[in-house]
Amino acid sequence: MKMIKNTLKGCLLGLAMLSVGAGSAQARDFRLGLLTPPAHIWTQAAESFATELNQVSGQAHSVSVFPSSQLGNEAQMMQMLQSGALDMAFLTLAEVSNRVPDFGALYAPYLARNIEEAGDILMSETARSMLDQLPRGAGVVGVGFGMGGLRQIVSRGPVETVDDLRGKKIRITPFEPIRDFYNEIGTAPTPMPLPAVYEALANGQVDAIDMDAELIVHLRYYDHADTILLSNHMMFPVIGLVSNRVWQQLTEDEREQISTLMNKHLLSTIDTYIVKENRWLQDIRALDLNVVEVGPEFFGEAISRWEEKWSGKTDILAQLRK
Ligand code: BEZ
Repeated sequence: MKMIKNTLKGCLLGLAMLSVGAGSAQARDFRLGLLTPPAHIWTQAAESFATELNQVSGQAHSVSVFPSSQLGNEAQMMQMLQSGALDMAFLTLAEVSNRVPDFGALYAPYLARNIEEAGDILMSETARSMLDQLPRGAGVVGVGFGMGGLRQIVSRGPVETVDDLRGKKIRITPFEPIRDFYNEIGTAPTPMPLPAVYEALANGQVDAIDMDAELIVHLRYYDHADTILLSNHMMFPVIGLVSNRVWQQLTEDEREQISTLMNKHLLSTIDTYIVKENRWLQDIRALDLNVVEVGPEFFGEAISRWEEKWSGKTDILAQLRK
């Protein structure tokens, strides 16, 4: 009798240790937020991740995707991830680079010379090693990177040299490395979230916008433009995040399943941009306006000044350049 009691006690203890060590599996409906509209490549990748996680988990887990900033802007989504009020998000690097400066290095002007090189950088060990800093530095788990193309400039007025941009209000995505680049050029960078951009360019609230080729074509940002500078001056990564609080509640198997599938669908965005970017650039070249192709020399000293400033903030820039 005593032996049976001890064996039972041992089993219960073992079970309790298992569930403390690895979390306990339970069906969940995760919420994933992002700012892009439903048809955007990032949102499509999030939807595909949701479908596949549901299948692979035998319908145990589902993911509800909330596009178009339905759950708030990126700063608000980041706070929700930190508190555990939101489970997952696909975000630009704005919020993580505010907390962990190394991520700002991925916005170094002309870090990638073309879209393929941008993909290689985002898949590199150096880039992936930055993710390890996120649980401690930002209260989130970084699962992997995806891609949002290379940045171009759409201007209401003519632009022949960089001097034509000086003093001009240029819409930027609100974060530091991009703001620094436009400050170095001598423009007045104007932070503005995506949904406000079309109207702002149409009514002259800004003189130009910083944007990627896909959205220039699909959201018709050329409607009110005179010139598009095809400059490819910066890449624009997306990062897949899971709340660290939520992560701690998951079993090892669940973590493995989520990170494998989320990574797969984030990486698929890199393939999509590599395949489609040239087509969008061709569409832009065919527009009835001034399309000017420029390289790093167009921006003069601004690039080396950016580099000097940011190499003081992060050591990883040199490694990424290699
Ligand atoms: C933007 O703010 O320019 C942007 C944000 C997310 C995806 C693409 C562009």
